[in-house]
Amino acid sequence: MSLDKPYLDVPGTTIFDADQSRKGYWLNQFCMSLMEADNRARFKADEDAYLAEWPMTDEQRAAVRARDLNWAMRTGGNIYFLAKLGATDGLSFQQMAGSMTGMTEQKYRDMMIGGGRSVEGNRVVGEGGDAQGPASHSDAWKAWEEQAQQQLAAAVEAQDAAKGQKTGQARITASVYTSHVPAIGAAIDHGKTEEPYWQPLFKGYEFSKQWMKDNLPDVIFLVYNDHATNFDLGVIPTFAIGTAQEFEPADEGYGPRPVPVVKGYPELASHIAQSVIQQDFDLTIVNRLKVDHGLTVPLNLLFGSPAEWPCKVIPLHVNVVQYPVPSGARCFALGQAIRRAIESFDTPLNVQIWGTGGMSHQLQGPRAGLINAEWDNRFLDRLIADPADLSTMPHIDYVREAGSEGIELVMWFIARGAMADVNGGPAPKVAHRFFHVPASNTAVGHLILENQ
Ligand code: DHB
Ligand code: FE
Repeated sequence: MSLDKPYLDVPGTTIFDADQSRKGYWLNQFCMSLMEADNRARFKADEDAYLAEWPMTDEQRAAVRARDLNWAMRTGGNIYFLAKLGATDGLSFQQMAGSMTGMTEQKYRDMMIGGGRSVEGNRVVGEGGDAQGPASHSDAWKAWEEQAQQQLAAAVEAQDAAKGQKTGQARITASVYTSHVPAIGAAIDHGKTEEPYWQPLFKGYEFSKQWMKDNLPDVIFLVYNDHATNFDLGVIPTFAIGTAQEFEPADEGYGPRPVPVVKGYPELASHIAQSVIQQDFDLTIVNRLKVDHGLTVPLNLLFGSPAEWPCKVIPLHVNVVQYPVPSGARCFALGQAIRRAIESFDTPLNVQIWGTGGMSHQLQGPRAGLINAEWDNRFLDRLIADPADLSTMPHIDYVREAGSEGIELVMWFIARGAMADVNGGPAPKVAHRFFHVPASNTAVGHLILENQ
């Protein structure tokens, strides 16, 4: 994977990046639990029983039992989290740091009093400094590694057998755009899709459902907004990527929708997070996320109501609830960064990117119910043909022309920015275009654009 990790050759140092965080998620969450006195007491009373409550790897449990912090970090632990374990044992930060150096406590303390470890010879692996080796390596870790070596040898043999079958990069094949409306979900959940009110809307997605069957991706990168569901006013991230293994449908007040759990793709999501942040977009990383109608209704519109969603989904939440929300231009640039991130992932995946929300609607105040079909259709024309220019439209134009909640449309630029033509490739093919008024309070717009 061609991620920029210039820190890998700093001796005796582990940088806690998105990959480490993914590996160490449950180990670090276990450590966090030790901030509560009751949990510390239960852990001290029976370590094995307490550790068994956490879905960590066996290696992580062994590293905790051995109190080998170097080993724990190798399995994804971060020092600020591991410090809760040290604190539970009554250790100071100096004792914890010193325990990883192979020095005695007294020698480490003396070194610090003497001005600390010298940087000379310790900048790059292979220099002559005193922090070059794995200085401390517990017997438990050594024994574990011996066994792991044997397993690795067997795995390499199996991999050799499969060689050549799994080379290539991920690529974005298409982008899909659709409104989301809770009432559409309710119509599906209550078997009302054939009613005269709903029938014309669902008819507009019949082509799309067949197209999805014919063009099923491995992964959907799904841009949506959380509607005061997972994020309340306690935390308001502008852009947040879901890196978890699974995302449960949220209870928005009517009970959770009876739809399947959404399966994520942690390896690709954390790769995208790292790549995009290195391209100077400050994504929030979310390992615990319940998804609302903004994400589940688009999945239903394109897949119907299967027992399992047929592919993986990486959610990207955009704040469009509290101003200032990101500009269309910022979203368009983020889409370009996401395309670069996806296309640098060393697995030959078919990836679609979806932009959801919109089109014109206003859910509040005396102006509620505003619809501007002409403006919406012009938006679709320009999104197809001239997205860069359209993306510079100021927020006030959305509010005035498309209603206060029409601002959800800025999310579509993330999907559009990830298309090949924005990077000098050919114009996309418009596989499908649909527009319908109304669904509840909203004008429903839908596009499928294929990369050629
Ligand atoms: C409606 C539309 C939305 O986008 C939303 O998030 C909630 C409600 C509606 O039209 O009712
Ligand atoms: Fe919405």
